[in-house]
Amino acid sequence: MRERFTGKTVVLGITGSIAAYKACEIASRLVELGASVIPAMTRSAREMVGPASLEAITGNRVVLEMFEPLPNPEIEHIAVARRADLFLIAPATANILAKAAQGIADDWLSTTLLATRAPLLFAPAMNTQMWLHPATQANVALLKARGAAFVGPGEGRLACGEQGPGRLIETLPILEAAAAALTPNKDLVGRSVLISSGANHEPIDPVRFIGNASSGRMGRALALEALCRGAKVCVVAGPSDVAPPHAAEVVRVRTAAEMRDAVLERFDGCDIFFSAAAVADYRMAAVTQIKVKRSGPITLELVPNPDIVAEAARRRRSGQVVAGFAAETENVPENGVAKLAAKGLDFILANRVGGADCAIGAEESEAWLIRANGAPESLGRACKGGIARRLLDAAADMLDRNVLPQ
Ligand code: CTP
Repeated sequence: MRERFTGKTVVLGITGSIAAYKACEIASRLVELGASVIPAMTRSAREMVGPASLEAITGNRVVLEMFEPLPNPEIEHIAVARRADLFLIAPATANILAKAAQGIADDWLSTTLLATRAPLLFAPAMNTQMWLHPATQANVALLKARGAAFVGPGEGRLACGEQGPGRLIETLPILEAAAAALTPNKDLVGRSVLISSGANHEPIDPVRFIGNASSGRMGRALALEALCRGAKVCVVAGPSDVAPPHAAEVVRVRTAAEMRDAVLERFDGCDIFFSAAAVADYRMAAVTQIKVKRSGPITLELVPNPDIVAEAARRRRSGQVVAGFAAETENVPENGVAKLAAKGLDFILANRVGGADCAIGAEESEAWLIRANGAPESLGRACKGGIARRLLDAAADMLDRNVLPQ
């Protein structure tokens, strides 16, 4: 996500919810990702959390009042309104939503919100009844209609003791939504992207399974990139270390057979299918229902699993893009070309695995993008975010030109 935040100016507006203390963590993560953060607190937010921590975390003075003497003109409200790349209001109370919707400007934050043309992202936090109140819902609808983005609220037990929607959503979904708000390229709006991700676990007996080391990071990077560019995203997720982005629909599966069914059920409705999962090639011929007891050497009888991406490619209608991956230890581009042809894909990302600096799950690897009927294009050593961008560029280009090999 770093590339979306580096060098960007984010105004973090903090309003008077109990969750205001969580703004410190949000600010800290934004700074870590390379953003310059201007914290602004309303009067009620200051009842909840002191400005000193935010100043220490961001290295910037917290903007508090409209007419306070400013240490530098850089934080004067019109200057900030012009300079900001994003206004993130987290937590956002019912009051700030009402003021933003109605154009009320009675303090620094609400005035600056009115003056800016930067994208707005609200992370609401309030009592459930306040959130569900028709007045709040009407304000949210109005702000959305004007292009503002929302993330959350989450559901759960609130500080007031009530159970329901109104909790400030976790920091990671807020950062993901901020990344999307900071992405001007929305070339995938109206497109539906299906992604298989992670590993499979093929059971041996009730407590053991055959698995692999897929981290799910490639699937997550693809999902995030597609969401940032405006697509609707569904991730069919096998077991993995990382969770798909919050804004993606997630279908959890375990075995290759479950993954196949979940993918094919959704495949007809998608524009792009990325088969990023490390699908288990084999499963047990028969899973024993009782735990296998330790004795001498044993032999497991395995049978092949269906090839999910090849099946999807055979089924695809004109206008759909199907892409796969080839993680190889040797002859990487050559094996990639052969796999692309064997599975009938539109393109494949071949990357080197194995060795000290190309371990499975490593941040970067040597990669090639191979299109049907094209020569392998070296991407050099690329990170998963960079690979995801190139793959979605390639897919968007195919959809635009509708030049699909049949
Ligand atoms: N794949 C799939 N179904 C399978 C096996 C693989 O959909 N049963 C997909 C993977 O998601 C990936 C591509 O096919 O996009 C290549 O996977 P890979 O494991 O590299 O290829 P295999 O066909 O399994 O070949 P091998 O393991 O022999 O290299």
